[in-house]
Amino acid sequence: MSLPDGLELIDARRYAAHGYPHDAWTQLRREAPLAYFEPEGYDGFWAVTKHADICEISRQPDKFLNAPRFTVIRKALEDPSSMRNQMRTIVNMDPPDHRTYRKLAVPWFKARNLEIVEQRMVESARQLVDKMMRDGGEQECDFVPEVAAQHPLRLIAHLFGLPEEDEAFILKCTNEMFGAEDPEFQRSGDHQADQEQLRNDFFGYFMKTAAERRANPQDDLASMLAAAQVHGAPIPDLELLSYYLIVLTAGHETTRNALSGGLLALIEHPEQLERLRKDPSLYTTATDEIVRWTTPVNHFNRTSNCDYELRGQKIREGDSLCMFYASANRDEEVFDDPFAFRVDRNPNPHLSFGIGEHFCLGASLARMETRVLFEELVPRLESIELASEPQRLVSSFVGGVKHLPIRYRITPAQDH
Ligand code: HEM
Repeated sequence: MSLPDGLELIDARRYAAHGYPHDAWTQLRREAPLAYFEPEGYDGFWAVTKHADICEISRQPDKFLNAPRFTVIRKALEDPSSMRNQMRTIVNMDPPDHRTYRKLAVPWFKARNLEIVEQRMVESARQLVDKMMRDGGEQECDFVPEVAAQHPLRLIAHLFGLPEEDEAFILKCTNEMFGAEDPEFQRSGDHQADQEQLRNDFFGYFMKTAAERRANPQDDLASMLAAAQVHGAPIPDLELLSYYLIVLTAGHETTRNALSGGLLALIEHPEQLERLRKDPSLYTTATDEIVRWTTPVNHFNRTSNCDYELRGQKIREGDSLCMFYASANRDEEVFDDPFAFRVDRNPNPHLSFGIGEHFCLGASLARMETRVLFEELVPRLESIELASEPQRLVSSFVGGVKHLPIRYRITPAQDH
């Protein structure tokens, strides 16, 4: 059997039409676990499909760099004015700068700090599920804009210190950033012009926020970053605005996809939904299984800083290595029955949050948000089914369900 054509692995439109290319990855893991592709319209890359190889690469940040190409995108979209080329976030940085900048925000995302926001999370979940319930009869809604997109956005906005009325603006801009290839989220369709406007909107907003927090500091993440110092001086503007951008956007688009994909998985596996309903001790393992199953961040790319031998292949300095986390999360050498969705899976060493130097800063927050939402929703679900076909985002980077029309009945909360 011939190998996949490469476009199958990376073309955003194919992801929207068919979902993640699990058949292609399964074949690659078996026959060519580290294979070089040069799909039409893209610069070439090594497709890294095995769990062990992603760990080996990610744990050597001096040899495999995040800058200058942290995702693989179409050459036509690689313009200098794009957001990704105009920012300097911790995702685009490498050691030693990366560590210096990353550690500024780490305490905010530690479990101890998050316990303080857990009450806010429970309230958010309760409000959203109450709203879904309406009068308690049979209802329909699109779970993504009405619930999955709202819950993580509220919580990151809360940590950041943004007023509630600004959430819609952040949501719109984030949709446009991650959905740059999706016609639903394009402004004019002229990629370059759209990117320029988006950058101006985001950076203009962040500049205003930083100035306000410098003049009038609050107990929030925006104020902490505005006041933070690096090498004895305030963070330079570009790095500060980029920090705002990454913290505000990385945190909700991704978790939204875990929530929507997680609910879809529970609808498609009613026996797992039933297990969860009967045994509330399973919410913690169920959360990680949802994050493994959905793998909201499909890939990150590294650029080799030296010649290196991996799985018998010679990687040259300057080569791109595209790490497909979603493939690693189905690796037969690591997961027992990897194509089974099991809410009690344990251990579950998935790579959905990456590993090593750039391990997701918001992993504890994302896990807590996901667990809390399902803890509120699942016990109150009397029935649930798809109302029509889900639709997927046009993206091979942060892939997910962008519309999930459902029909359901929800009961009032027990302690209302
Ligand atoms: C289910 C939800 C999430 C998934 C699947 C996810 C996934 C990832 C992955 C795979 C990386 C690694 C990047 C790399 O190796 O280059 C990452 C990094 C990062 N994530 Fe998340 N993420 C999620 C939620 C969040 C949340 C809630 C935040 C909150 C702010 C967040 C903030 C970040 C940041 C700032 C980084 C960069 C860390 C660094 O470069 O040191 N993420 N995330």
